[in-house]
Amino acid sequence: MEIRKCRHDDIPSVMKIESLSFKYHYPSSIFYNYLDRNFYVAEEDGKVVGYAIGDARRHLIVSIAVHPDYRRRGIGTKLMESVLKNMHGYAILQVRVSNNEAIKFYKKLGFIEKELLQSYYIDGEDAILMFKNLD
Ligand SMILES: CC(C)(COP(=O)(O)OP(=O)(O)OC[C@H]1O[C@@H](n2cnc3c(N)ncnc32)[C@H](O)[C@@H]1OP(=O)(O)O)[C@@H](O)C(=O)NCCC(=O)NCCS
Repeated sequence: MEIRKCRHDDIPSVMKIESLSFKYHYPSSIFYNYLDRNFYVAEEDGKVVGYAIGDARRHLIVSIAVHPDYRRRGIGTKLMESVLKNMHGYAILQVRVSNNEAIKFYKKLGFIEKELLQSYYIDGEDAILMFKNLD
């Protein structure tokens, strides 16, 4: 498994993983806009199996997902480590209160629950704002 920067021709695979992982989807423009920035993919046997995007200016983890067939093998952790290396001071993210797997994943990476964001999502679900000090 290799972690490398996302390339233009990886975007369809990234969007496929995103569609398998989330109920609501980002428009493709979001992914194209983050090319050449803090955007990594995990590749295994020539196939993209996960991605992570960080926005250093906003201290924000924008999106992360691993293909369902490749989870619980440390790929998400390696993707987060690559993205966090390019961020400074602190990192934040929002996660659905119902997404227990992701909340456990972020806690293992050292994020703490900072704040409840009520009705944050389009369907009315609350988000937890999570925070990690990077100093
Ligand atoms: C969250 C996600 C990216 C984790 O990716 P992953 O490659 O499976 O994560 P890792 O294998 O690196 O997991 C690291 C640790 O996180 C925790 N963890 C990850 N998935 C978990 C799960 N389903 N249940 C409980 N703990 C979990 C465990 O502590 C795990 O360590 P362990 O396997 O040694 O017990 C993946 O589950 C995913 O794509 N989910 C759907 C998309 C999503 O919810 N993204 C976050 C939105 S805010």
